Amino acid sequence: MASVSVTLEKIVSLCKRRGFVYPSSEIYSGLNGVYDFGPLGALLKQNIKNAWLEQMMSFKEEVVFVDGAILGAPEVWKASGHVDNFSDPLVDCLSCKKRFRADEFKLEDGCPNCGAKTWTDVRQFKLMFQTQLGAVADENSIAYLRPETAQAIFVNFKNVISSYRVKVPFGIAQIGKAFRNEITPKQFLFRMREFEQMEMEFFCKGEEADKFFELWVARRVEFFKSIGLNSEKIRTRAHATDELAHYAKGCFDVEYNFPFGWKELEGIANRTNFDLSQHSKFAGKELAVFDEETKTSYVPHVVECSVGVDRLFLTLLFDSYYEDEVEGEPRIVLRLHPKMAPITAAILPLTNKLREQSEKVFFDLKKLGFRIQYDTSGSIGKRYRRQDEVGTPICFTFDFESLEDGCVTARNRDTLQQERVAIDQLPAYLNNLLGK
Ligand code: GAP
Repeated sequence: MASVSVTLEKIVSLCKRRGFVYPSSEIYSGLNGVYDFGPLGALLKQNIKNAWLEQMMSFKEEVVFVDGAILGAPEVWKASGHVDNFSDPLVDCLSCKKRFRADEFKLEDGCPNCGAKTWTDVRQFKLMFQTQLGAVADENSIAYLRPETAQAIFVNFKNVISSYRVKVPFGIAQIGKAFRNEITPKQFLFRMREFEQMEMEFFCKGEEADKFFELWVARRVEFFKSIGLNSEKIRTRAHATDELAHYAKGCFDVEYNFPFGWKELEGIANRTNFDLSQHSKFAGKELAVFDEETKTSYVPHVVECSVGVDRLFLTLLFDSYYEDEVEGEPRIVLRLHPKMAPITAAILPLTNKLREQSEKVFFDLKKLGFRIQYDTSGSIGKRYRRQDEVGTPICFTFDFESLEDGCVTARNRDTLQQERVAIDQLPAYLNNLLGK
């Protein structure tokens, strides 16, 4: 049966109820724009990152990985342009005192909260979190929490080339936390103050940048389809010149059709040689490479693919959320791609009398590294619903016949079909499900 409309409220409630996401510091009333991930959320996040790493390593061009520090020297962020340019226009309503981003609505239409039309001047609000290193708080102790992971890649470009013997064209990828003091964090995981990014900077010759830019846009769209996103809800959109970030010559957003409209899921940018040139200038270090063919040095250009782990997490939940009916009973089901599902299969003994034998099946599969849950409480129907709601693709029921024929009943989350599967074939069955 088709999905009824999914709303942000339904997703937030499911996330809380089933242990995907909690508001951070909740017992102290929460921290705006900051979230914690629960047991299932942590697993889903891990699956997202694994799938991304897998794709990055699957092409003929080499992509290597780094894991940079979150704290950065101020010079890094001066050179990158963030200290001067990374800000949003901020305005306060003089009547209700609420604060807004001035580029999100027309000021002359009035305050979205109270309708008044009197405003403070628009000022630029710096998005980077600043902190102090050490005991003395002065100009020299300033450090920033990184607002993007990319800069750790640029500042380590030479380190990677000289220590790992890679040759242009190649990519450096990184998954890690980023921090932005968003004026209006909103839509749950869509715009957060602390979030995680998966970024890949692909270094190439300037004359090849357009070719690789096109190639990576196609690859990244393919990625989203490969993890199960509905292709009708994905599109690409080229940035208009006045939308481009200070470092970009061209940018394509991969957008998803969220319940609140088409919005950016990933940005793919042609960053030219802006970053390496800036760091070279500010640090006074040579960041060029030598071209054996032409016997000249050049500063590589960069094609960047940048997506938020949390934003993709939210997208997967919206995309997979369905409400339907099974045998006259309503159910919520997450039709997650098996590779994305936090739990791959559940073992459900028909009664507690079968605990010992069914637990053996459970432990054997766990030992092989499968994500398996064991659930004994409630009717089989109730247990199916619980697994459906968190996206578990397969439930294996262990019944009295299992003792005789060495098989369990596999019930499919989406087709609801049931089949008997030999217990010794379960690893192969699950590997097949996971596309391994
Ligand atoms: N290095 C380029 C860069 O950071 P961006 O468009 O500002 O570009 C890239 O961010 C991706 O990071 C976005 O497409 C989005 O998926 C994610 N992202 C950015 N800001 C975010 C926020 N406040 N909360 C959650 N995800 C965010």
